[in-house]
Amino acid sequence: MSVEPAIGENDSAGTKLLTQIVMGGVQDPFPLYDELRELDEGVHWCRELNAWFATRAADVRMMGSRAEAYSNDMATTSGANVHNADDPIERRYGETADKFLFFLDPPEHTTVRSVFRHAFTPQAIKAWRPTVERIADDLIADYDDGDEVDFMGDLAAKIPIEVIATILGVPRSDLPLFVKWTDALSLSTDPAVQGEARSIAIRTAVELIDYLDAIAIDRRQNPRDDLISLIVNTAVEDGQPLDPTVALSQAVILLAAGNDTTTNLLGNGISILIDHPDVKERLGSDSSLIPRTVEEMLRFDPPFHLDFRKATDEHTLGGRDIAAETTIFHLLAAANRDPREFPDPELFDIDRQNKRHLAFSHGIHFCVGAPLARMEAAVGFSRILSKFPGISAGSSEPRRKVTNIVARGWESRPVTLRR
Ligand code: HEM
Repeated sequence: MSVEPAIGENDSAGTKLLTQIVMGGVQDPFPLYDELRELDEGVHWCRELNAWFATRAADVRMMGSRAEAYSNDMATTSGANVHNADDPIERRYGETADKFLFFLDPPEHTTVRSVFRHAFTPQAIKAWRPTVERIADDLIADYDDGDEVDFMGDLAAKIPIEVIATILGVPRSDLPLFVKWTDALSLSTDPAVQGEARSIAIRTAVELIDYLDAIAIDRRQNPRDDLISLIVNTAVEDGQPLDPTVALSQAVILLAAGNDTTTNLLGNGISILIDHPDVKERLGSDSSLIPRTVEEMLRFDPPFHLDFRKATDEHTLGGRDIAAETTIFHLLAAANRDPREFPDPELFDIDRQNKRHLAFSHGIHFCVGAPLARMEAAVGFSRILSKFPGISAGSSEPRRKVTNIVARGWESRPVTLRR
C-alpha cells in the first residue's frame, strides 16, 4: 500500500478528508468522519488506498446484507496476505491466512462458519463466564487502593488473551508465548507493515500456526472439552470435519480477531466511564445496567473502524459509479454516529432505544465472537467497578494509538484505582 504525503490539489473534499484520516496520526477522527458522512451522499474515493469509503449506516447495512454483490474474497487485495510464495515458511502463512473466515464467501463461508454455531452458544458463554471472572479477579487482586496503573498494559491487554488461550485449550504455562505470537499475528495482517518487519512478523506468526497445528493433531485423536477440539472435529455439511488446513486457520483467526478488539473495548470503555462519572455511579449502584452500557460503548467508540468488501459488479452507490472489483471500505465508526439512525449521536446515552450499532458489522460476517466479547467486557467492568468504584484518570496523560486506522484504542491509559 502506498501512502503519499501530499494532499492532491484536484482531489474532492471527501478525498482530502480521507487523506488526513489514512495518513494516521489523527487523535480524534470523529469530527472528520462526521464531515465525510454528511458530505454529498457519504460515499468518497480514497486516493491512497485506491478504494471507496461508505460512511452511512443504511449503506453499510445494505452491503452487509448482499454478500453476492459485495465479496469478502480479499485476503490478497487487502494486503493482509501478501507473502513470498517461494519461501516455504511464508507460503505456510499464506495458506493459513487465505482461509481466515472473514476472507471467505459463500458457499465456503457458510460451511466453515457453521462450526462456530456450535462454539459461541449461549450455554458456552455461560459456561466460560466463571473462567473470565477468575481471570479478571486474579489480575485485579494484584492492586490496591490508590495504585496508579496503565489500564491498557496492566489490565485490558491481559484479559482477552488469557481467556481465549484457556477456552481454546492451550496450557497456561504457554501464555507468554501466546502474547508474543499474537502480537506478531496482528502485525502480519496489517498492510502497513512492510519489508523486514513483515517478514519477521510472518515467521513469528508461523510459530503460532505450528504450535496450534500440533494441538489440533492431538485433539483429532484425543478430543477434549475445548474450542480446538470443536473446530477440528465438528461435522460440517457433508458429515465430515473441516479440512485440517481450513480448521487450523479458524483456530488462528480467533487470536487475530478477538484480542486487540476486546482489549480496545475495555480501554475505550473505561475512558468513557472516566469521562462520564454520572454513568460510572449508576453502574456502581446497579450492575444490571452494564450490558446496555457496553452496547453504547461499542456504538460510541468502537474498537474496529474499518471493514472491507469488493464490488462484484459495476453499480452506483451514494451517487458514485463503482467499478467491478473495486474495494469499498465500511467506516463502521462513522455509521455508528449517523444521525439518521441514532438521534444525538454525540451523546453517550446508555438509555438509548436503538442499540443496533455496527461495531460488529452486519450480515453473514457479523462477528462470531460478539457474545464472548460482550461477556468479557461486562465481567471486566463489573469486577473492576466492584473493587475500585472510584477509578479515575491517572496523573499522566493518556495516549491514543494513532498508527493503525483500523483498530482504535489507547496506547496507554493511566488510571488511579480507588475504592
Ligand atoms: C469488541 C470486540 C470485537 C469487535 C469490535 C469485533 C469486530 C468484528 C467485525 C467488525 C467483524 C466483521 C468483519 C467483516 O465484516 O468482514 C468481525 C468478524 C469476526 N470476529 Fe470479531 N470482533 C470482536 C471480538 C471478537 C472475538 C472475541 C472473537 C473470537 C474469539 C472474534 C472473532 C471474529 C471472527 C472469527 C470473525 C469473522 C466472522 C465472519 O467472517 O463470518 N471477534 N469482528
